[in-house]
Amino acid sequence: MVRAPCLLLLLLPTLCISEVELEPCEVDDEDFRCFCNFTDPQPEWSNAYQCVSAIEVEIHGGGHNLEQFLKGADTDPKQYADVLKALRLRRLTVASAQVPAVLVAAFLRALAYSRIKELTLQDLEVTGGTPPPFLEATGPALSILTLRNVSWTAGGAWLTELQRWLKPGLKVLNIAQAHSLAFSCAHLPTFLALTTLDLSDNPRLGEHGLTAALCQHKFPALQALVLRNAGIQTPNGVCLAMVRAGVQPQRLDLSHNSLRATAPGAPVCVWPRTLNSLNLSFARLEQVPKGLPARLSELDLRCNRLNKEPRPEELPMVSNLTLDGNPFLDPEDLYQEDPMKSGVVSACAHSALAVGMSGTLAVLQSVGVVA
Ligand SMILES: *[C@@H]1O[C@H](CO)[C@@H](O)[C@H](O)[C@H]1NC(C)=O
Ligand SMILES: *[C@@H]1O[C@H](CO)[C@@H](O)[C@H](O)[C@H]1NC(C)=O
Ligand SMILES: *[C@@H]1O[C@H](CO)[C@@H](O)[C@H](O)[C@H]1NC(C)=O
Ligand SMILES: *[C@@H]1O[C@H](CO)[C@@H](O)[C@H](O)[C@H]1NC(C)=O
Repeated sequence: MVRAPCLLLLLLPTLCISEVELEPCEVDDEDFRCFCNFTDPQPEWSNAYQCVSAIEVEIHGGGHNLEQFLKGADTDPKQYADVLKALRLRRLTVASAQVPAVLVAAFLRALAYSRIKELTLQDLEVTGGTPPPFLEATGPALSILTLRNVSWTAGGAWLTELQRWLKPGLKVLNIAQAHSLAFSCAHLPTFLALTTLDLSDNPRLGEHGLTAALCQHKFPALQALVLRNAGIQTPNGVCLAMVRAGVQPQRLDLSHNSLRATAPGAPVCVWPRTLNSLNLSFARLEQVPKGLPARLSELDLRCNRLNKEPRPEELPMVSNLTLDGNPFLDPEDLYQEDPMKSGVVSACAHSALAVGMSGTLAVLQSVGVVA
């Protein structure tokens, strides 16, 4: 794009806007963050070279099929290892595209030479079979892997196939809006270093799906299990899934689920002794569920529907209990129609909104729309 006319037209900046919008990629002044959105039917992919010295890169493929990049996919990345090693890239997001699985593998193989720590794949349709694996894992040494709304032809085997391309050592795995979380456990390698498993925003998961996803003994180092908005119905069901899987986290987040009381006759569950923080906020609870762990250092019951102050014997022994935003605390305020007049309601409403909006906000923030 020719930008010179804009300089001449500084006094009429609006005239330049349409021209600036034609650029698919934008880099900030510090060369820190680069954002591309290739929505044009004939995208100028080479524009992405602008991102070569950025630390954080986010590329939206405008729904295009990236098949055309397959030509280069079988080049041995060793040839340009020095260039890859020199990249400052630490965080990469690839979104909105159809990608052949072969290309995903080639891409991870190339990233093996980079110093990338965090990879996010979002709104991708990964097509076709996966290529034969190499003998040893040759992909990047990621700390954080996030997948949101990614579909795989490989079905339940996708995580196994993907993990083969990662060096061991992944610490945080986030999988939202998954198309399949019923992993083929027998083939799934063990996540030896994984401390956080976040399966939030999978509203159809439920305890049943959780039991299928939490492959037995594959998450030995787990410290936090996050199941926000994951179709969970009872804490007891999650306890049973955790015990079955042999996970012993310290923190469990069940916020933003519609929780109900454990059904009479449900199997009794003994919580892992490691568990010390439980989040039951925004869970529409009208009473404290029975069968919670006997001792916790933290229990968050914010923004529920508790009409009465829980009696001490109903609650676990907790040193840090949060009950804000429950009707028994401030019944009049809570039923105020005008949210401006009610601090409690607006705090609860605001947080609920924040969760729904977080993805959008993150995107807007990354382009600098929101500070
Ligand atoms: C990319 O551009 C399209 C068309 O202008 C827009 O609808 C979409 O929201 C953009 N994506 C992002 C992440 O900004
Ligand atoms: C999920 O990703 C697909 C592309 O694979 C896209 O068409 C769809 O709109 C995305 N869904 C959501 C809810 O963003
Ligand atoms: C519990 O979850 C809510 C909503 O997801 C969050 O705002 C809050 O910070 C969490 N509480 C704790 C103690 O982590
Ligand atoms: C109690 O938990 C809240 C988060 O819900 C945290 O901000 C606060 O520091 C905790 N207080 C103590 C004493 O641990």
